[in-house]
Amino acid sequence: MYYIGVDLGTSSLKLLLMNEKGKVQNIVSEKYNLYFPKEGWAEQNPQDWWSAFETGILKLLENYDTKKVKGISFGGQMHGLVMLDDKDEVIRPAILWNDGRTQKQVTYLNEKIRKEKLSEYTANIAFAGFTAPKILWVKENEPDNFRKISKIMLPKDYIAYKLTGVFCTDYSDASGMLLLDVKNKCWSKEMIQICGIKEEQLPALYESYDVVGRISEENAKKFGMTEDVKIIAGAGDNAAAAIGTGTVGGARCNISLGTSGTVFISNDRFEVDPNNALHSFDHADGKYHLMGCILSAASCNKWWMENILETENYAEEQKKINRLGENSVYFLPYLMGERSPHNDSNARGTFVGMTMDSKREDMTLAILEGVAYAIRDCVEVARNLDISIKSATICGGGAKSDLWCKIIANVLNIEIKRLETEEGPGYGAAILAAVGCGEYENVEIAALKLSKEKIVIKPEKELAEKYDQKYQKFRKLYPKMRNIFKELNQ
Ligand code: XUL
Repeated sequence: MYYIGVDLGTSSLKLLLMNEKGKVQNIVSEKYNLYFPKEGWAEQNPQDWWSAFETGILKLLENYDTKKVKGISFGGQMHGLVMLDDKDEVIRPAILWNDGRTQKQVTYLNEKIRKEKLSEYTANIAFAGFTAPKILWVKENEPDNFRKISKIMLPKDYIAYKLTGVFCTDYSDASGMLLLDVKNKCWSKEMIQICGIKEEQLPALYESYDVVGRISEENAKKFGMTEDVKIIAGAGDNAAAAIGTGTVGGARCNISLGTSGTVFISNDRFEVDPNNALHSFDHADGKYHLMGCILSAASCNKWWMENILETENYAEEQKKINRLGENSVYFLPYLMGERSPHNDSNARGTFVGMTMDSKREDMTLAILEGVAYAIRDCVEVARNLDISIKSATICGGGAKSDLWCKIIANVLNIEIKRLETEEGPGYGAAILAAVGCGEYENVEIAALKLSKEKIVIKPEKELAEKYDQKYQKFRKLYPKMRNIFKELNQ
């Protein structure tokens, strides 16, 4: 039997084929465009996601028996606003999780409605990338589009809708809309009213491992599958990655180094960070999690390598780096503003500390270190809440670099565990599909059984101390720059 995990990412759609024993059979990836129509804005066309799915799935199954596919599920980039009209046409390009246009709406929500109220209704406060401020932005800036809205959905739910015709989402992904009462797992009446929408415009809610429907006859024919293929709700990409890395139950941690960088802490109980710097969301195992998210992680390295150095040979550039813990160059990785913990869409990428003898490799290293320091900013928030993080699994494109994993282990001073399958969200989605089809008893059992450790990278005392001193300097930079960033953006 086969299960398919769909990872609807920001730079590409990845499809993963897994057998009933949890063994990965095949992975394919289809790229699509990411548009930056204005500074700080980020959009994609939902139709491009669907085209990538249609092409990718045929490639994925080329040498496999398509009749053996039993279930499909998803891990999707979170928070994106997808709007359909009453003819099921996409109204405008999706506004993505790293789009910073909603400053005014975020200020309105956090200051006029007030953070305390938002946290009471949803367990979270407003951040620029969340869905509710985007709905308010459309209402204010594109009233014609706002009037046309029949369905509001998240990116992965668009694929599920195209496959089944079922308008649904799951609790983990819905948590990032600022419309869900995370504790009680239902839409917040208050938030619906604040956004000027109706509950009918929002999808039906499911657990991530619930079956939402079956593949439509037309799609089954197109992909050569049986009409029995079950579609399972799936999860936001970070919750799906947590499943794929065994980050379930109480106080396990996963770090994702994708376009964004996240620190994901699974939690048996519902809890809220009193300062709301960490998000408090539902988890795909039916429980809860806390999460910090930096908006640019592996994307900083991609930007530096491909746009600036104009090379695709990342390994070659990293080979030149030999002096860890000695770099005098610092990089603030805020290329798309920053979410956790600063909540500042004015923040910008910044190099500090160069001298005449600074080299190309010092700048490359500063990028890798800057991202690690920003991840530590999130870990420090958790530590201040008395959450002890001694080790973490790691996944995402950036996790493929040995050097970057070593830097992260030492900057955080924790053990970093690399797994046999580094495709966190895709693998997690395939596990959710398998659980939904009854292959495993529950998500926790499946996730713990299938996520297998490959190597553990331990921090080295001397290097971790050097990095601690460097981090103490790094953390002073943003507060000094905050007003300058604001001025630059006026
Ligand atoms: C999480 C977040 C990102 C996206 C990236 O809150 O915004 O991790 O899910 O795909």
